[in-house]
Amino acid sequence: MYDFDKVIERRGTDCVKWDRQGAFGVQNGLLPFWIADTDFASLPEILDAMKKRCDHPIFGYSEVTDGSKQAACSWFSRRHKWNIDPSWIVPGPGVVTSLRFTIQALTEKGDSVLLFTPVYDPFFAVIGNSGRKVADCPMIRGDNRFFADFDLMEKKLKEGVKAVLLCNPHNPVAKCWTGDELGEIAALCEKYGVYVLSDEVHCDITLFGNAYTPMASFGGIRDRLVSYTAISKTFNMAGLVSSFMVIPDPALRSRIEKALGEAWIFGPAAIAFSAIEAAYTHGDTWVDELIRYLEGNALYVSEFFAENMPGVGITKQEATFLMWLDFNCLGLGSEELAGLMAGRYGLALGSGVHYGRQADGFMRLNIGCPRSTLEKGAALIHRLYTDRRNENG
Ligand SMILES: Cc1ncc(COP(=O)(O)O)c(C=O)c1O
Repeated sequence: MYDFDKVIERRGTDCVKWDRQGAFGVQNGLLPFWIADTDFASLPEILDAMKKRCDHPIFGYSEVTDGSKQAACSWFSRRHKWNIDPSWIVPGPGVVTSLRFTIQALTEKGDSVLLFTPVYDPFFAVIGNSGRKVADCPMIRGDNRFFADFDLMEKKLKEGVKAVLLCNPHNPVAKCWTGDELGEIAALCEKYGVYVLSDEVHCDITLFGNAYTPMASFGGIRDRLVSYTAISKTFNMAGLVSSFMVIPDPALRSRIEKALGEAWIFGPAAIAFSAIEAAYTHGDTWVDELIRYLEGNALYVSEFFAENMPGVGITKQEATFLMWLDFNCLGLGSEELAGLMAGRYGLALGSGVHYGRQADGFMRLNIGCPRSTLEKGAALIHRLYTDRRNENG
């Protein structure tokens, strides 16, 4: 049994979540539920593997290791029934950097890339900052879940979208796309000949029996598909800045390798490969227990809010350690709410509008922390809710 209840002091470690809270107008001191890493100790075997690598005193230029690729292939085959050939793997730094260079390699300036919004905010940046345009495809909300609007998607594809950037599972709306939904997305992408960039960094954390479907399950898009995976979210290793792209089509793979090479962007630091191999070799039980713990946290939040803050809408938690909460009952926009939470209640949550214009009034709550920390956060949110309700009479 791993101890996810254990509170580990992270302040003073230069971590962004606790020590760099400038986005909230302070240096630190807020109880943080914002940026997407967790407060859990990683898998001991990962830490041991990195220590062992340090027994060799030289960290010169290194290549991706066969061991890390084999371990990744075995993990995806055993846990997700996705058979990856090691030759399809292209190592990269963080997922976001790899996305940026993929977009540059496959599209031209002025081209449009479709996003199902609300969505992870750097997606807007990697598209906009490389001179491409966002084709916004707002999701439809129903029964506290979010769904793709396929009619709108098709309309946008007809208008000339060049790529779809998918978040599978979907941050921030905690959605585990079903095979049917992804099949429909794949069919439309095939019909209109657009690239599919599928960010699957949250794939290992699906909750309450929901199962992740790799976009690679759909053969019709094989020659236009790039999938992105990493140990960063699953094993709380974002600081290693490492990821794998999986690109089955050789021609597509060389185009992307060329774009990365021309920009002199190479894979992660050598030590990351030791971590990746250990994670994908020894991590099964740890991840299973993490999932159970996160399910407990999600249930705790749902029940606490239903009992004490019934006006707040809780999106169904199918995947990820990020919850998507609708605070519109308080009559405040997300930015105002984020400011109030930080300024008066000492809390740092993600502001909904960062993820899409239509998400005003929503906040993203990171539940990747010991239950006791979450309870403290929930109590502070409850105070804000009660104060605000009293102020409004
Ligand atoms: C969907 C998604 N993609 C990518 C990232 C970040 O990946 P990286 O740190 O490897 O760039 C995150 C982090 O929250 C994320 O949620």
